[in-house]
Amino acid sequence: MPGGFVNEVVRDGDTVRRFQSPNAAFVHALLELFAQHSWTGAPRFLGLDSAGKEVLSFVPGYAPWEPVQPADVSCDESLAAVATLVRQFHDLTAGTILAGTQQVVCHNDLSPKNTIYRDFGHGLRPIAFVDWDLAAPGYASTTSRTCAGSTSISDHRSRTRPRRSRRCECFAMLMGSSRGPTW
Ligand SMILES: Nc1ncnc2c1ncn2[C@@H]1O[C@H](COP(=O)(O)OP(=O)(O)O)[C@@H](O)[C@H]1O
Ligand SMILES: [Mg+2]
Repeated sequence: MPGGFVNEVVRDGDTVRRFQSPNAAFVHALLELFAQHSWTGAPRFLGLDSAGKEVLSFVPGYAPWEPVQPADVSCDESLAAVATLVRQFHDLTAGTILAGTQQVVCHNDLSPKNTIYRDFGHGLRPIAFVDWDLAAPGYASTTSRTCAGSTSISDHRSRTRPRRSRRCECFAMLMGSSRGPTW
């Protein structure tokens, strides 16, 4: 599927098949945790196919993998929705065995191409994250710092420092991190 530059991801009906990463056992446990909580911000892990590939639910929607995107993808409402989704899975993982000695589980590869958007009548808004291969225990403040460099936050109109800083601050605040990104 387009948008992937590491794995070979193939859609098969309402599933996707992808090669397992070295981190697969952790990711599968994480996706199981999300399923137990009925959190819809990630695909479901459905098992392995006969070739040993992981089978995930296909999340219908729009994945902005091309460089030029509609303004909705990076509007303030979408930024807020990304932060809310991040906060949700941080809260779900805080204090779990998956977070281990750290605060939460971080996605570690948040970007528009790993985000699925849907339009419920007010424009495209993020509804789920895919590609959890790099997920690992970490800190919410790390997420806000790493996301600052991601186009999810520093969109194409954010070349000016004040606007970029404002978006980073908004993201960190909405995500619930006490520490915003450092520049
Ligand atoms: N479960 C899914 N539902 C819908 N689209 C998906 C799903 N998994 C991946 N995709 C699409 O396939 C693209 C590549 O998948 P991804 O898992 O990100 O591969 P890579 O590790 O190569 O980046 C994503 O950008 C997204 O557009
Ligand atoms: Mg990806």
